[in-house]
Amino acid sequence: AAHWPLTSEISQDWTDMTDPQHPDRSGDGQTLWHGRFAGGPAEALMAYTVSLPFDRTMWRDDIDGSAAHVRGLARVGLLTDAERDDVLSALDQVSDEMESDTFVFVESDEDVHTAVERRVTELAGSAGGKLHTARSRNDQVATDLRLWCKRELLVVARSIHDLQSVLLDRALGSGDTYLPGYTHLQRAQPVLLAHHLLAHGWALARDVDRLLATRDRLDVSPLGAGALAGSSLPIDPEGNAADLGFAAVFDNSLDAVSDRDFVAEAVFDLALVGIHLSRIGEEWVLWTSGEFGFAKLDDGYATGSSMLPQKKNPDIAEHARGKSGRMIGNLTGLLATHKGLPLAYNRDLQEDKEPLFDSVEQVTLAVAALTGMIATATFVPEAMQAAADEETTAATDLAEYLVRVGVPFREAHAIVGAHVRAALAGEGSLSDLVAADSRLGPDAAALVGPGVGVRMRTSRGAAGPEALPLQVESYRAMLARDAERLGL
Ligand code: ARG
Repeated sequence: AAHWPLTSEISQDWTDMTDPQHPDRSGDGQTLWHGRFAGGPAEALMAYTVSLPFDRTMWRDDIDGSAAHVRGLARVGLLTDAERDDVLSALDQVSDEMESDTFVFVESDEDVHTAVERRVTELAGSAGGKLHTARSRNDQVATDLRLWCKRELLVVARSIHDLQSVLLDRALGSGDTYLPGYTHLQRAQPVLLAHHLLAHGWALARDVDRLLATRDRLDVSPLGAGALAGSSLPIDPEGNAADLGFAAVFDNSLDAVSDRDFVAEAVFDLALVGIHLSRIGEEWVLWTSGEFGFAKLDDGYATGSSMLPQKKNPDIAEHARGKSGRMIGNLTGLLATHKGLPLAYNRDLQEDKEPLFDSVEQVTLAVAALTGMIATATFVPEAMQAAADEETTAATDLAEYLVRVGVPFREAHAIVGAHVRAALAGEGSLSDLVAADSRLGPDAAALVGPGVGVRMRTSRGAAGPEALPLQVESYRAMLARDAERLGL
């Protein structure tokens, strides 16, 4: 996703155009809607209501939408072929100017739609003046935003796929390394590092799936809905939809111009990606701490301290955690904006773009940084395994040993629990206590040994080496299926 300039980065020196004699009020400086107004817009109005600083990121989509609209007008005879070609070549030039950053914005450009139309009119003369026939910025902006989402959500989903592949690579490279699996952040049972890494990969698979489903649902053209009620002119919304590559066309003009469900869905999907990245981030903050020492970051993916010379900080992981709050904020803000809006378009809807663009940009940056961080980090198997080999993490296996010889699980739980309590009270090691118990004995005590526990996790989808190959196989199949869906 392209970085869009912050309002503060754009120097738009708004001139007060309330003066009817102001030179900018004639010719090029006019707003699209000046006809109805005796006076021009106040500086404060322009400064407060413009969306150009952020919606210019949609210029490509605005030009594509306009080109399709013009071709549609020509198809139904509202433009001659010559007029169509004049407007299309003006649009091409606007595209070149935008691409090369030579497009000159003027004071009256409220938004990207205004800017493009103004420039087309300058370039194509009277034919340019026909561009907006049977179209409103209301169906135009909805069209642009859907086109933008179709492209950008795919880009985000592809980058998530890269991260999933890196998780698989690291999983495959981690061999038999195991670490403690936690519940309540208390050591619970040993799990393969591969299994742990793939757990995050599966969450990301649901994210990819959600983004693609959102993308499919938003693949409906609103072009031709007009301001709210369609048109008296013989326009061709189906043809426009096909021209723009939309899978479907709107059925209700009021809904078409006021529906922003797709933005809310996209921002939700991204917020959930953000939450998944945040959870990965939190673990890496712990893993790279002196207390855990499970992983070391590559220098390129860590930061230092301005004061403490010894520090190596996991800033990427912390940002992944911190920025998820902002993405949740984008979602809640957007939902609040929608609540209570009467049909159809309301200017409030302009508030849809910044949260969407921000969430896309933040997820894109986070995924790239985390992918690099995880790809280049070094795991410390000795530290992971030493933590996982704590004798008490075998307690469940001891209880299950008793279950195998017919002891009801609740009873087995109590027997082993009593041994753990005794061991913690210093009465001996768990293995010695277990070996000395006739119900358990030396065979059971062997379960407490280093590296044994993880091998006991054999059931489908379990955390041990016996179950892993099946999981890897279906993870690979999922990646292959998604690669195809993502056009990779
Ligand atoms: N900048 C506006 C938006 O983002 C475009 C639509 C303006 N429509 C209008 N009727 N003023 O929503």
